[in-house]
Amino acid sequence: MQRSKQERKIQMKEKPTGNGIASERRLRSSAWFGPADKDGFIHRSWMRGYPEHAFDGRPIIGICNTWSELTPCNAHFRELAERVKRGVWEAGGLPLEFPVMSLGETNLRPTAMLFRNLVSMDVEESIRGNPIDGVVLLCGCDKTVPALIMGAASCDLPAIVLSGGPMLNGKFRGKDIGSGTDVWRFSEEVKAGRMSLTVFRDAETCMSRSTGTCNTMGTASSMACTVEALGLGLPGNAAIPAADSRRLTMAHQVGQRIVAMVHEDLRLSKILTREAFENAIRVNGAVGGSTNVVIHTLAIAGRVGVKLCLEDWDRLGRSIDTLVDLMPSGRFLMEDFYYAGGLPAVLRALGEKGQLHRDALTVNGQSIWENVKEAPNWNPEVIRLETNPLLREGGIAVLRGNLAPNGAVLKPSAASPHLLRHRGPAVTFESIEHYYERIADPDLDVDENSVLVLKNCGPCGYPGMAEVGNMGLPPKLLQRGITDMVRISDARMSGTAYGTVILHTAPEAAVGGPLAVVRDGDMIEIDVAARKLQLDISEAELKQRLSQWKRPEPAMKGGYQSLYVERVMQADKGADFDFLVGCRGAAVPRESH
Ligand code: FES
Repeated sequence: MQRSKQERKIQMKEKPTGNGIASERRLRSSAWFGPADKDGFIHRSWMRGYPEHAFDGRPIIGICNTWSELTPCNAHFRELAERVKRGVWEAGGLPLEFPVMSLGETNLRPTAMLFRNLVSMDVEESIRGNPIDGVVLLCGCDKTVPALIMGAASCDLPAIVLSGGPMLNGKFRGKDIGSGTDVWRFSEEVKAGRMSLTVFRDAETCMSRSTGTCNTMGTASSMACTVEALGLGLPGNAAIPAADSRRLTMAHQVGQRIVAMVHEDLRLSKILTREAFENAIRVNGAVGGSTNVVIHTLAIAGRVGVKLCLEDWDRLGRSIDTLVDLMPSGRFLMEDFYYAGGLPAVLRALGEKGQLHRDALTVNGQSIWENVKEAPNWNPEVIRLETNPLLREGGIAVLRGNLAPNGAVLKPSAASPHLLRHRGPAVTFESIEHYYERIADPDLDVDENSVLVLKNCGPCGYPGMAEVGNMGLPPKLLQRGITDMVRISDARMSGTAYGTVILHTAPEAAVGGPLAVVRDGDMIEIDVAARKLQLDISEAELKQRLSQWKRPEPAMKGGYQSLYVERVMQADKGADFDFLVGCRGAAVPRESH
């Protein structure tokens, strides 16, 4: 039988157009759009409005978009997606944008982290179930970044991340103000009686001046740096401001590049190697990045089968000096970081010091070192030189002891040096509500030597491990000029926050970790240099208290929250669901009709 021209076209192996790269591989999308039968008819016919050549075997590029008006930092993503599409078309691919649940850190309750794993499932199943050959992950706000990478990593197709970019610097009364960091600071000033509510409200409109993610080195910026350090973004991706036209240019380039990645079969597993994760850990220390990156990298590594653990964070971070002088650890903001040279300048500094796996592959097909070896540092005030770091040994510290048998973390660059070795009596809070009830009580038995202990805010306890670990200080101490105290919890804290805050204590209180049985007045000892976190009671006493402990009632019975509490792993394992660990690939599922 004589076949029509179209039939011959759709039956043939991939022969991409436009970029001159030929591939003999048959792409997975051809299982949908290739056949000349009723299934092929259905798949093509319902995709109305595309020209015939759109289904000629060219790469189908999914654009996974976390746009949402409820995620204000991702509200500009529609324009970015359009620019990605231009690049995809130009390179000979077919771009198809799809939404996934978005996670707006500022709006979502009880915490966006509760839904990170859910979104990762959304992403994974959306990619696997659809005619997608490669995917652009368009993300920005804190949890959207790990969620999208986790989901894509479990499919292992070619994937590239385009970050949304940070906001421009906040400007208030002649000074730069930073997302989150200055909210915490102003709030404490109000409680201390040093700032009026009118001034506080005035600052509100001055902080978020443009589209984009938080402009401090908070979790969003730290994750954007992690993306670039892992090799998942194009060079410069982390810091170009959202409002800068170069962000649009990069979106176009990302669209071009993902098509080539499909032809090269440059899958995530080729990039997400152990070396890449080690680079990311070192980079987080060098930029003074968020403690949240610890949890997210552990979860991402779990998806690709790289055995990463808290010890890796401690071992690799110990020798890393913090070079980037950004809030919350330092003075400047992401816009300044970009103008100073951005992450390429930091990567170059690490590479020159022998603290970078130079051969790690990146999405542009070059090694990380090839990308950055000539990167300039235009402003050594913002990106400090090795001879003048912001902090020596600034990597995340992992503490252990009878209070945290499976570890807890602390960010030295955000802590007060005089509290890094401390012994003091505990003031305990059984929940965040209990904390709110007690903290402003003038009769609360607390002073600057006390250790504030917050329980039941971990993965199962909150649930979702909210960012409440940087609990504010008692107003009566703020009024005396006290600005920091040791705080310990099983919660996380915002990457924009600061203080001597010990987080992610594992196991958490809600599953019977020792944190659950700390009592007011118990002495607690921390020694960050020795990596020690100790509750000064006898082993027998601790055992006896734990034997009397009763599991708290879950906040919600049934629904997603029940699944979450049943299957979430502890913080030291990345708080992923146990059943999501690993890569399940992207084999084409059976037909639907
Ligand atoms: Fe979305 Fe900070 S709230 S990036």
